[in-house]
Amino acid sequence: MSRTPAHYGGEPIRDEVLGYGSQSITDREKDAVVEALAGDYITRGPTVDEFEERVAELVGVDHAVATTSGTTALQLAGDAAGFGPGDEVITTPLTFVATAYAATHNDATPVFTDVDPHRRTLDPDAVREQVTEDTAGLVPMHYAGHPADIEGLLEVADEHDLTVIWDACHAFGGSWRGEAIGAQRDMAVFSFHPVKNVTTGEGGMVVTDDDELAQRLRRLRSFDMDYDPDSHEDEPWYQVAEGPGYNYNVTDLQAALGLAQLDRLEEFKRRRDEVAERYDEAFAEIDGFRTPPEPLESDPTYHLYAIEVDESFGCGRQEFVNAMHDENIGVQVHYVPLHFHPYFQEEFGYERGQFSATEDVYEGLVSLPLHAEMNDGDIDDVITAVRSLVRHHRE
Ligand SMILES: Cc1ncc(COP(=O)(O)O)c(C=O)c1O
Repeated sequence: MSRTPAHYGGEPIRDEVLGYGSQSITDREKDAVVEALAGDYITRGPTVDEFEERVAELVGVDHAVATTSGTTALQLAGDAAGFGPGDEVITTPLTFVATAYAATHNDATPVFTDVDPHRRTLDPDAVREQVTEDTAGLVPMHYAGHPADIEGLLEVADEHDLTVIWDACHAFGGSWRGEAIGAQRDMAVFSFHPVKNVTTGEGGMVVTDDDELAQRLRRLRSFDMDYDPDSHEDEPWYQVAEGPGYNYNVTDLQAALGLAQLDRLEEFKRRRDEVAERYDEAFAEIDGFRTPPEPLESDPTYHLYAIEVDESFGCGRQEFVNAMHDENIGVQVHYVPLHFHPYFQEEFGYERGQFSATEDVYEGLVSLPLHAEMNDGDIDDVITAVRSLVRHHRE
């Protein structure tokens, strides 16, 4: 017997809300944090060093610099890249606001450029057309964990000598052409927010192979100060500030949590892949319901499972979201395009209607729940809820 969706008068499929994302914390993580609390450092200490080394090794780069969030990591990466007043930084409008902060928080101008609607990431041809003599860099984002067109974007960067900062906040643990996502030049940024692929509560990381960038990032993160033994040999306390730095230090407590999470990275990836596979199978042939693109030359860690619904599904995105919420299924939309936000409109003159591919994608976007804590019953609930909506609109 077919069930009536809660939105149209039936009972919700679940009593408790299933979030679109969630952390996964076991006793292993709890013990690691408690142990770190008993250590000598509860601010940045040797455990942060170890966490950075493990991430650098995993990604296959020379340096990893931990910061307080993906947002501060993007800001520092933009600063280290030398973005500043008068510079234009090309980035995607289909992202979280913090991607653009690599430009704005260094007084540079974010130049939004349309996406390739299939990948939902920056279109290299559109980027090429936007480059001017003021363009200083690119900040592409690996939407949902699937890599942007890395080869195409690096080609444009090479043609114009641009610095590239990959916003890889969704993409930790994935690979492209057999190489870890994040290993591509010049810098990549990860987030360790609780909904991300691994978490430290709050936290972020910049990874790079460039020694000078890494040194600059380390200084900026910690007040832009360093010991100056050369000119102050007999004054071992003598630190110098060379500019206005920040306190974006992370703590050994967070790093202990992060290290314990890294031990579970494969498990997380496997479960996320399984959820995505179940959805792919269940939703393969539904009119007006576009499943995420097949991974292109990559083995992504699925961060989001973002589908697109259109009217031929039977209802539009808004009704779909409300119907899923009525089932206690916490779907979400990633993201309201950046040029819709008052900040970017008022400060930089953007307006709706400027980026048609981004807006077309946004129109139908919905992220279904996807995280490593989901059990088979949770996946079944999402599938049943969608199928009963399909039936409701078809019968
Ligand atoms: C694409 C993207 N960039 C940047 C960020 C910022 O990361 P955080 O929340 O760690 O500051 C996020 C996460 O929310 C994100 O999804």
